[in-house]
Amino acid sequence: MIRRNKRQRTQRRIIFVIVLLLFSTGFLFYPVLNKRIEAKRVDSVPASFAQIESDMLDIPPPSANTESYLDLVNKTHPLPADYVPPDLTEVTAVAPGVTCTQLRKPAAEAFAQLTDAAAANGYTLVLRSGYRSYETQKKLFAGYVKRDGQSAAEQYSAPPGCSEHQMGLAVDVTSPSVNYKLDHNFGSTAEGSWLAENAHRFGFIIRYLEGKQDITGYIYEPWHIRYVGKKPAAEIYQQNITLEEYLENLDPV
Ligand code: DAL
Ligand code: ZN
Repeated sequence: MIRRNKRQRTQRRIIFVIVLLLFSTGFLFYPVLNKRIEAKRVDSVPASFAQIESDMLDIPPPSANTESYLDLVNKTHPLPADYVPPDLTEVTAVAPGVTCTQLRKPAAEAFAQLTDAAAANGYTLVLRSGYRSYETQKKLFAGYVKRDGQSAAEQYSAPPGCSEHQMGLAVDVTSPSVNYKLDHNFGSTAEGSWLAENAHRFGFIIRYLEGKQDITGYIYEPWHIRYVGKKPAAEIYQQNITLEEYLENLDPV
């Protein structure tokens, strides 16, 4: 009888020690296990939720490396007065004595390739005007209004904020054959024709086409080219359409 009691007591002690061990192990390892579970939970948040969260926190989502040069700037889509493009770069092929000689880097590089290709074919093409700040465009436009009146000026010059030159993606191109002027005859010179037929190969389009003033808001400018990137430029050239029409037909993403 005494022996049985002793055995029962020993069994109870062993059970107590086991329970105590299990409890303290759980207590010690809980923080480590909990961290792992939390990490798994964050990893498994669907992308759309991550996007919503980053939008709410105003954190830009990671770049998908799809930089586009297709932004529309015209009389109904103006830029803010304080917009200054990034990565402005000096252009080397410029007309004598001009001042607005910068473009955004991708446009500057593409323009250098374009002028090199033109030179290889015996044509000299140079920049007459590139990036223009809001203030520069304001002064320019005001000068044209003074000279020709508001409604005439609006046919060929953009009001401040409405010029693609403020984007750093537009170039007015000229050549010695037109005395480095911006002349409508430029379109029928050998240099102007070469530009119209080849600009797209370098990512540029002739932005203000003949007969499209009702869409673009401006009369024909054979000298004003706009960088949009090679693929859009080729499509716009092949379809002989304006940037406005091209953007309207693009599938929404
Ligand atoms: N000449 C073009 C329309 C401009 O001023 O931007
Ligand atoms: Zn221009």
